[in-house]
Amino acid sequence: MASEKPLAVVTCTAPVNIAVIKYWGKRDEELVLPINSSLSVTLHQDQLKTTTTAAISKDFTEDRVWLNGREEDVGQPRLQACLQEIRRLARKRRNTWDGDLPPSSLNCKVHVASENNFPTAAGLASSAAGYACLAYTLACVYGVESDLSEVARRGSGSACRSLYGGFVEWQMGEQADGKDSIARQVAPESHWPELRVLILVVSAEKKLMGSTVGMQASVKTSPLLRFRAESVVPARMAEMTRCIQERDFRGFAQLTMQDSNQFHATCFDTFPPISYLSHISWRIIHLVHRFNAHHGDTKVAYTFDAGPNAVIFTLEDTMADFVAAVRHTFPPGSNGDTFLRGLQVRPASLPAELKAALAMEPTPGGVKYIIATQVGPGPQILDDPYTHLLGPDGLPKPAA
Ligand code: DP6
Repeated sequence: MASEKPLAVVTCTAPVNIAVIKYWGKRDEELVLPINSSLSVTLHQDQLKTTTTAAISKDFTEDRVWLNGREEDVGQPRLQACLQEIRRLARKRRNTWDGDLPPSSLNCKVHVASENNFPTAAGLASSAAGYACLAYTLACVYGVESDLSEVARRGSGSACRSLYGGFVEWQMGEQADGKDSIARQVAPESHWPELRVLILVVSAEKKLMGSTVGMQASVKTSPLLRFRAESVVPARMAEMTRCIQERDFRGFAQLTMQDSNQFHATCFDTFPPISYLSHISWRIIHLVHRFNAHHGDTKVAYTFDAGPNAVIFTLEDTMADFVAAVRHTFPPGSNGDTFLRGLQVRPASLPAELKAALAMEPTPGGVKYIIATQVGPGPQILDDPYTHLLGPDGLPKPAA
């Protein structure tokens, strides 16, 4: 069958983000509206990103989606919510504007292929990058230029924060329709060049309880979560914004750790309790506090999402020493040469006094590997057709 050229094909990339003031709990499940505002750091796409291609064509008979080469069920409610929302925005734009998009594009089916450049199984936040990339790519292919917070949010709440680079807040909003629940950049990626991020991959296992179900249980049963949302987070959002604006690392680091700890406390306050931290996570927490105590200053911060992997914030001048401390505490197995990935880190040996101050028995293999990265930009459009994940037939290109 001679197939027609697709009407439009676009490929984009989007970043992972890590919250320093956590989102946990929805006030509206359908619209994905949170019970508190949150704030995150966008990680650099050189190390972690999702790439997505979307194509629309008169030839396509149904919407289809592939994730890391495998076809997914396009009927999943979250995917459907994103698709419906983008088509609604495209229709709205069509009615108010006479553009150059082919008139039939809205009635066409779409094919979407998406890939992560990092192992999904490592338990890293892939859904945020994935849904931000989906929203951004669909917007490009349908010529939508309005705010995409809602499209990304309907896929996964935290995804709306991956629509921007640098430091990003998700304002919870007040309206019942969620129109004011939007992501906004607090500072661009160039704002704090010395800030570094280390991801300590602890476990590659799938988590016991996903965020969506976990936070539902917390909203239902945890009085601490309600207290947190109403009485703690508003002041913390203001304080975190100040720390970022003034590049106050000590303040930023302390608040990041406290907010991670409070989030995990609300998990433990959930009934039955939820625990995302493993004994290795706890060893990392001790390591960070002892490292800081030894320096008499807060040089390093940890934060944990709904899983045991640690994300570490530090400044460029402390990175090598801290990596040496991690290597000492969690000696790599046979993967010594691939233990540290991403940004180059100067090799450093652990000073004897620091080793004594850590006072920790080594746990070999406790940390599987480290990804060193930094703050990065928001979604990007790739111009080179070579980067398309879908071939001219609208099907995923065979893996190279
Ligand atoms: C602990 O955005 O994954 O990472 O909206 O149900 O898809 P859904 O949840 P999700 O939750 C993220 C929770 C968190 C904290 C955060 O990223 O703010």
